[in-house]
Amino acid sequence: SPKQSEDLRSPICCIMGHVDTGKTKLLDCIRGTNVQEGEAGGITQQIGATYFPAANIRERTKELKADATLKVPGLLVIDTPGHESFTNLRSRGSGLCDIAILVVDIMHGLEPQTIESLNLLKMRKTEFIIALNKVDRLYDWKARRNSPIGMTLKKQTKDVLSEFNRRVTYVITQFKEQGLNTELYYKNKEMGETFSIVPTSAVTGEGIPDLLLLLVQWTQKTMVEKLTFSDEVQCTVLEVKVIEGLGTTIDVVLVNGVLHEGDQIVGPIVTTIRALLTPHPMKEIRVKGAYMQHKEIKAAQGIKIAAQGLEHAIAGTSIYVVGPDDDLEDIKEAAKEDMQSVMSRIDKSGEGVYVQASTLGSLEALLEFLKTPEVNIPVSGIGLGPVHKKDVMKASVMLEKKNEYATILAFDVKVTPEARELADELGVRIFIADIIYHLFDQFKAYIDGLKE
Ligand code: GTP
Ligand code: MG
Ligand code: NA
Repeated sequence: SPKQSEDLRSPICCIMGHVDTGKTKLLDCIRGTNVQEGEAGGITQQIGATYFPAANIRERTKELKADATLKVPGLLVIDTPGHESFTNLRSRGSGLCDIAILVVDIMHGLEPQTIESLNLLKMRKTEFIIALNKVDRLYDWKARRNSPIGMTLKKQTKDVLSEFNRRVTYVITQFKEQGLNTELYYKNKEMGETFSIVPTSAVTGEGIPDLLLLLVQWTQKTMVEKLTFSDEVQCTVLEVKVIEGLGTTIDVVLVNGVLHEGDQIVGPIVTTIRALLTPHPMKEIRVKGAYMQHKEIKAAQGIKIAAQGLEHAIAGTSIYVVGPDDDLEDIKEAAKEDMQSVMSRIDKSGEGVYVQASTLGSLEALLEFLKTPEVNIPVSGIGLGPVHKKDVMKASVMLEKKNEYATILAFDVKVTPEARELADELGVRIFIADIIYHLFDQFKAYIDGLKE
């Protein structure tokens, strides 16, 4: 018998793929927002989360006239970066989700991070749907805004259709080379064995009804067990952020269970939830905006938590809730193990540059990037938030040891005037950028300059 809707939580869907395939733009198209245009360099550098209530999904899919009976309350969508240096964030996103959308640019086919994403999904045995995006870029395409894909394909000329078919066949062949059977979703007779392709455009909205409907139908049909609501809290920290008026907050994904204002929580610290906040439905949590305050929130949701001591929280770790029958010491022990595994990725060698970033998530990403063989810049110290005098002091230790490493790579943070003054005085260089690889470019230009 079909489950009552209150027994099912919202599925979590992660959106993955190579850089610039249109992941954020697809979400903008569904939300009616402009997040992508506000991103530095047009690239995503953080994980995001957006809640889509069932009513919005029903509205968006009505032209398909399918049975869009929704048993789930909505859909929580996690946006991830496609740029190569964010493997850790892709991994974190894919680790949270019940289903994924793998976005492929129809003009480019499979690209390196498509394959990396594919491997993450295979490794975790996560179901996914392929969005073959940017169909509007096919030569002579006639757009029909927000249309189901079948209806819009009927309007295209023979030439457009033959170009469309040629590119689809090519992508199917490329997936085959990766050991996967794929097929256009409306021709797919063996869902589960063969992965479905939905042609989409984030600019015209074509194919989006199909994508949403398929997502919801597929999760409801095959994941009832997994989506059955449980009381046990499962919650992961996405980001640690300072918000004016709230102090240090954490953005979390509540995968299962319920959180209440006043709950005692355990991560790297033990504290009490002061405020439970969410962005409005259809708004991205990583974008500054108005928050809604709640007494309690049921999974799945992207939530901002305000509490004392959250500056010690670490992205990627779990948050535990202390129940009436729980032993606080046991929970603290579990939280400690979690943290050590994240910290071990932040390596501190003896000689190297000092890196500073706005959030732990971006700090992790920056460290990961600096470690890649093509970049290979050693790191001796790390910091979070604006660059202060104390950070300059720490970086200045390298002046004696290895002068060129007396450098601060500052990602998406401000430098206080006092810190700047001290750096000039001591001869510590500070490179600032809001795109990770620009830091590398600046540092490399500096090192190359030394060699001349
Ligand atoms: P990262 O998060 O940086 O990996 O990129 P992304 O996959 O989120 O892609 P993004 O949404 O930033 O889009 C990249 C570029 O492609 C932007 O200039 C978009 O306007 C454009 N774009 C995205 N989707 C479409 C589409 O369907 N059609 C066309 N013509 N352009 C698109
Ligand atoms: Mg993006
Ligand atoms: Na982009």
